[in-house]
Amino acid sequence: MKGSIVGLWLLTAVITLNLIANLEVVGYRLSRYIRPSFYNLSINIQDDASNPGTTFNGEVAITLQSNQSNLLEITLHKKLLNITRCLLYNKDGRLQQDIAASQLRYDNETELLTVPLLQPLIVNANYTLYFKYSGKVQSDTLGLFSKEIWNAGNSSARAHKVFLTQFESIDARFVFPCFDEPAFKAKFQLHIGRPSGYNAVSNTRLMETTNEGKNYFVDHFDVTPIMSTYLVAFLISNYQARGNISDYAVLSLPEHYNKTEFSYNVGKRVVAAFNELFPISYKQLGNDVLLFASVPSFDIVGMENWGLIFYSEELLVQKPGYTDGFVHKEFTCRMIAHEIAHMWFGNSVTLSWWSHLWLNEGFARLYEILVTHQLYPEYHLDQQFVIHLQTIFDEDAMNSSHPLSSSESSIQTESEFEELFGSFSYEKGASIIRMWRSAMGAVNFDNSINSYLKQHHLKNTSPSDLFAHLKQNWPAQPEVVLDTFFSDFTEQVGYPMVIVNITQNQQRVILHQKRFLNDYEDGSDATLRYTIPITFATNVKNTFDNLTPYTYFDKNKTTVEISFKEPIEWIILNLKQSSYYRVLYDKPILAQLKLALSKNGHSSIPVENRAQIIDDLFNFAHAGMIDYVDVFEFLENLKNEFDYVPWYAAYKGLIRVSQRLTPQQLPYFGKYLNNITSAVFAKLTVKSNSDDTVMDVYNRQLQVSLLCRYQNTECNNQVKLHFEADLEKPSPDYRETFYCAAARTTGYARILELYTNESDLEEKHMLWRALSCTRDYRAHYNNMVFNSKIVENKTDGVTQMYEENPDLITPILSMLAENITKWSNFLGDSWETVVMLNKMSESFTTVEQANLFAELIDENSEFFGTDIEVLESALERVKMNLEWAKQRLSNLNNYLRRR
Ligand SMILES: *[C@@H]1O[C@H](CO)[C@@H](O)[C@H](O)[C@H]1NC(C)=O
Ligand SMILES: *[C@@H]1O[C@H](CO)[C@@H](O)[C@H](O)[C@H]1NC(C)=O
Ligand SMILES: *[C@@H]1O[C@H](CO)[C@@H](O)[C@H](O)[C@H]1NC(C)=O
Ligand SMILES: *[C@@H]1O[C@H](CO)[C@@H](O)[C@H](O)[C@H]1NC(C)=O
Ligand SMILES: *[C@@H]1O[C@H](CO)[C@@H](O)[C@H](O)[C@H]1NC(C)=O
Ligand SMILES: *[C@@H]1O[C@H](CO)[C@@H](O)[C@H](O)[C@H]1NC(C)=O
Ligand SMILES: [Zn+2]
Repeated sequence: MKGSIVGLWLLTAVITLNLIANLEVVGYRLSRYIRPSFYNLSINIQDDASNPGTTFNGEVAITLQSNQSNLLEITLHKKLLNITRCLLYNKDGRLQQDIAASQLRYDNETELLTVPLLQPLIVNANYTLYFKYSGKVQSDTLGLFSKEIWNAGNSSARAHKVFLTQFESIDARFVFPCFDEPAFKAKFQLHIGRPSGYNAVSNTRLMETTNEGKNYFVDHFDVTPIMSTYLVAFLISNYQARGNISDYAVLSLPEHYNKTEFSYNVGKRVVAAFNELFPISYKQLGNDVLLFASVPSFDIVGMENWGLIFYSEELLVQKPGYTDGFVHKEFTCRMIAHEIAHMWFGNSVTLSWWSHLWLNEGFARLYEILVTHQLYPEYHLDQQFVIHLQTIFDEDAMNSSHPLSSSESSIQTESEFEELFGSFSYEKGASIIRMWRSAMGAVNFDNSINSYLKQHHLKNTSPSDLFAHLKQNWPAQPEVVLDTFFSDFTEQVGYPMVIVNITQNQQRVILHQKRFLNDYEDGSDATLRYTIPITFATNVKNTFDNLTPYTYFDKNKTTVEISFKEPIEWIILNLKQSSYYRVLYDKPILAQLKLALSKNGHSSIPVENRAQIIDDLFNFAHAGMIDYVDVFEFLENLKNEFDYVPWYAAYKGLIRVSQRLTPQQLPYFGKYLNNITSAVFAKLTVKSNSDDTVMDVYNRQLQVSLLCRYQNTECNNQVKLHFEADLEKPSPDYRETFYCAAARTTGYARILELYTNESDLEEKHMLWRALSCTRDYRAHYNNMVFNSKIVENKTDGVTQMYEENPDLITPILSMLAENITKWSNFLGDSWETVVMLNKMSESFTTVEQANLFAELIDENSEFFGTDIEVLESALERVKMNLEWAKQRLSNLNNYLRRR
């Protein structure tokens, strides 16, 4: 991959040497010499009777200017378009050149289209470049694509077909030749031609519809604000609108009309909240229209096209009894807030290049959480934020980590784009912005954001533009070198841990810092240092609300010292985990913290810090800095913990440990779990309760899913009784957990019936997963899994069997080994089997399993062919995992046995 890119650059260099006036194209990027200002775009879906809607015709007239004299060509992007006509008009609208299609130059790799000119462009004069072309409607989510929707119950009748677009990041070029980079902002006017029976919506207001005869119509839309190509969108469907499509509406299939009320109301509230929060209201941004449209089986959650946001159907359509649990509703609220936040962060103020994706996604994620929390406080997203932060901590502590801001040149090819849209730009971006907000104070932060949004409205920015506004509003005290602070967390990878030691007289604490890594031998740079905001509370002053730093840990200093007038018992750093670092307390402090947490009201230590301490301890143990016994001893505290977020952190750590425990060791682990969860489980039980808060519902789901999995007797008994006594369906967000637990006891037959009766496909698959939790794995495997015609059912069925019954993994592996080739033939190819076994091997914990696995690989080596390499390296990993467990978990296992 890399090699071919270098090759291309060389090639471009040779070409540019030959064409003296054309030193403009570098690699995949466009020169800044020519700027478009307006696209007049017509797309006509062809309604070919034999093959409806698989092609389209397009015409685009691009108004552009050159800022450079002597330019003898225009270069822009296109992909898979068949251009039949290319004309250039001068500033007076006269035809200046008719360029034959054969004269156009195109590079398949860079997707650059070059139009050669006979006369150089006059500087700063408007030209119009016109193309006539045809293109293909895609079936994948690329450019313009279609989705077929089949009638429920009658799979041969197509109920609907919808056409829609997805252009982010670089796919507008599938639909029209364009300057397909976010910094080339322009206005767009769209004319969408479609057969009768359909209607079209786009970014802006529908101005008029013209009848072209032969049952064909063209919808003409208003001019858009100045915006980037990746935000252009349209949809051709027979959707029904809730609301007014010239103002605000939710569009869905007509049969879903009644199920869009929830999302409609959420959207309305969210827009109002952002209008209050930001200095420019949504409409003042330049577009009166805001539409949400639902996309069935959309492989993207949501896309923030200006004025026409696409959302996956599950999110926008609330099916009563199916997708209206709290988990679903929280997700709907958050994603609606997320995409609407993009109208400001992304659409109005746009990143200058994709290497700064966090400027879009970090802000959208942060405001998604802030605004949803403001409107729907019952979800406690302020507390849940640390779950996001703790998740990205894992990725950011590995060699594969990358800085938030990368260099522009590092993001050019398709695979480089894909990496960007991983969780990094979102979760780390939001976590770092939250850290700045906490450190400077919410009011100062809001002021900076307001001036940033105003100054850069309809423009493009890079991180330094943001930093300028933050600096202007940053408090003078305590002192900090802001440029360094900003770059430490955006241009450097990773994050620090602060090591806290207390003096014997307990009147002084000494802080050191070190980069936190999962594995200090993985090639990462362990010497990186950071500017760290230090906030703290002690038993003497146990207030946690003031997030203004006491000081900043200067990265050039070795230590920071904090002195106290009187001795302190404990200290907590990084209040509410508002900053991006871990904290390692020395033993005396940790002992005192354990005591403090066991007191009434956890000595006022807030949920976020309780979760942080647990998450940090597990990770320090994982990295070998402390022993797991210390962690498990500390976790005895959970006996009086009832909150969801600390339990979430605890389970995340516990699962990681339990994955390395042998079936023989698991019962002791189960006993420990039983012990620390007794209070919270007695409170929650397996049954929902009218007093439940949302957090209780989430916590019950967590507890029941884990306790029953580790064979907690009380959990299994309660599930059995409740399942047998009560035929009512549990709420949708608890259903899989409860049915999975029930399938382990006596519920299998009835869940199988529910599965057979169910017609909703998502629900049916959920029931299949629940069914596969049965402990009678052999019967389920022989009767159901093996015979299923659906590949996903087969692989998910097996995965559920051992993941949900970790004590049974050895016999399950033996069973699979018996007829692995037959199984593979059934799946269609051996690759699926390799993927399944590779995943399963991550759960192997004994020499016996490793040997079984080695035998299986050996005996079927011919069958696996070259894919065997994947399994061979999986076997190496299994051996490393066994070694890791021997080193890191021996003390813990002795401790759990003795307990
Ligand atoms: C856009 O193009 C259409 C023809 O495709 C033309 O009728 C219309 O006048 C053009 N609009 C503008 C603003 O140039
Ligand atoms: C060029 O076109 C743009 C947009 O179509 C317009 O705003 C601008 O005034 C034009 N400039 C000149 C010099 O005609
Ligand atoms: C939608 O709700 C209305 C009013 O409650 C009802 O009359 C109508 O039948 C419902 N439509 C569908 C498709 O369920
Ligand atoms: C990962 O390790 C390699 C050396 O093994 C090193 O060159 C590279 O810079 C490391 N990457 C990060 C992000 O630390
Ligand atoms: C400080 O605390 C850490 C973590 O417990 C410990 O490893 C280290 O030895 C302590 N340093 C001193 C000087 O006590
Ligand atoms: C499944 O459908 C059958 C036939 O309609 C019905 O008798 C049975 O009660 C259903 N089973 C369950 C568990 O709902
Ligand atoms: Zn986003």
